[in-house]
Amino acid sequence: MKNIVLFASGSGSNVENIVQYFQNKPNVTIASVLTNKRDAKVLDRCNVLNISSLCFNKIAFQETDCVLDILKGINPDLIVLAGFLWKIPEKIIKAFPNKIINIHPALLPKYGGKGMYGNKVHKAVKDNSDIESGITIHYVNENYDEGAIIHQAKTKIHPEDEIDDIAAKVHALEYEHFPKIIEHLLLAQ
Ligand code: GAR
Repeated sequence: MKNIVLFASGSGSNVENIVQYFQNKPNVTIASVLTNKRDAKVLDRCNVLNISSLCFNKIAFQETDCVLDILKGINPDLIVLAGFLWKIPEKIIKAFPNKIINIHPALLPKYGGKGMYGNKVHKAVKDNSDIESGITIHYVNENYDEGAIIHQAKTKIHPEDEIDDIAAKVHALEYEHFPKIIEHLLLAQ
């Protein structure tokens, strides 16, 4: 039996997609969903999906061992950042080497770093008239969006695509690839 913990800060559509993917796979359990936003839509989704969820604030996350201790108690095989916007404290990274992965809505190393998330990334793609964008699934290290890349997938961007169109294309790639990559990493352990 493999256990995963998901972190999310917003809507949580990736969380929902991942939960649904593993619903019929008895060898993988979503142990919990952790969020830094008490009004995040992901919490509503967890209630509907009947998944345990937990909310923490910045002090608990950055200045105490509260979240670290929760994670140690769960002892997950993989920690998955699915739209989580805070930097992971070093002590958590050190406690779970090569077990924390993130999804970024662009083709890193393009459009990564602090403050680059969600539609800000898609706006940068549009402003630069890029002809492609995509997703990057990567390991998490001490720097935003700089850990080793596990998987990338691309989509074509047309000049008439608005930011929402780019977001929709990228989300579609996320839904298709992210659960499969998670499963692959779990099986490879
Ligand atoms: C996703 O597109 C994810 O790639 C992005 O946030 C979105 C969350 O959507 N993550 C980042 O931008 C991290 N820098 P969701 O809440 O609907 O899953």
